[in-house]
Amino acid sequence: MNKNSPDQQTNLDAEKQLAAAAVLDWVRAGMTVGLGTGSTAAHFITQLGERVRNGLQIQATATSKASEDLARRVGIPLLEPRRGLRFDLTVDGADELDPSLRLIKGGGGALLREKVLATASDYLLIIADSSKAVAQLGRFPLPLEVVPFALPWVLDAVDALGGAPVVRVGQTAGTLAHSDQGNLLVDCHFKQLADPEGLAQQLQTIPGVVEHGLFLGLARAAVVATGGQVLVHRAGAAPTAASLFSALP
Ligand code: A5P
Repeated sequence: MNKNSPDQQTNLDAEKQLAAAAVLDWVRAGMTVGLGTGSTAAHFITQLGERVRNGLQIQATATSKASEDLARRVGIPLLEPRRGLRFDLTVDGADELDPSLRLIKGGGGALLREKVLATASDYLLIIADSSKAVAQLGRFPLPLEVVPFALPWVLDAVDALGGAPVVRVGQTAGTLAHSDQGNLLVDCHFKQLADPEGLAQQLQTIPGVVEHGLFLGLARAAVVATGGQVLVHRAGAAPTAASLFSALP
């Protein structure tokens, strides 16, 4: 899904790293933190690990096995899911975000756990490079997590909605990609989402769709790096320089 040149890729990776660094001060001692998935979240986890090794006391839960492995490697204490567990702050990436902070997520296949933690969080903070901020959602294919048995009927239903579904393939030739839960991933090509809320409702009613990658009304802020500049976006407000917002309100 990545159509950037190697040079653009390097620049975007520098932006991801910068966005991650810009939100480190949002994590305060004693917090319970949700850890996102993807390359931007990986930068955050790595940098947060350094703070933990320097004495910052926090506990965390990750949104994927990959992020959990990374968190363990960098020394972040991990909590297992349990009843009543809430997160002060979850920091995650996004595939697209619009001016209302509606998101497409799941490019890394972790949308289900990401939505579980986002929903169990008091504050969902998105970190992103400049390619993720869009005027309207939909250019990035919308991922679904789908129970394998239900796949044919889910594909029919998504087709009927105009979603041009494609089952995601695995990294080994001839295999399909699976989520951490062992489900399949379907990428829907709607191209433009004129009514994300309406579409989310329609997708939720398809039997076999475990979760969709529309995150609506969940993100409280997004920190987006563009070149060397970092801006904090909040729904319905003009972006503000990151230095003015170094902590949660
Ligand atoms: C993982 O399932 C996704 O939701 C990621 O947060 C999203 O794909 C962003 O990934 P990058 O940070 O790698 O761009």
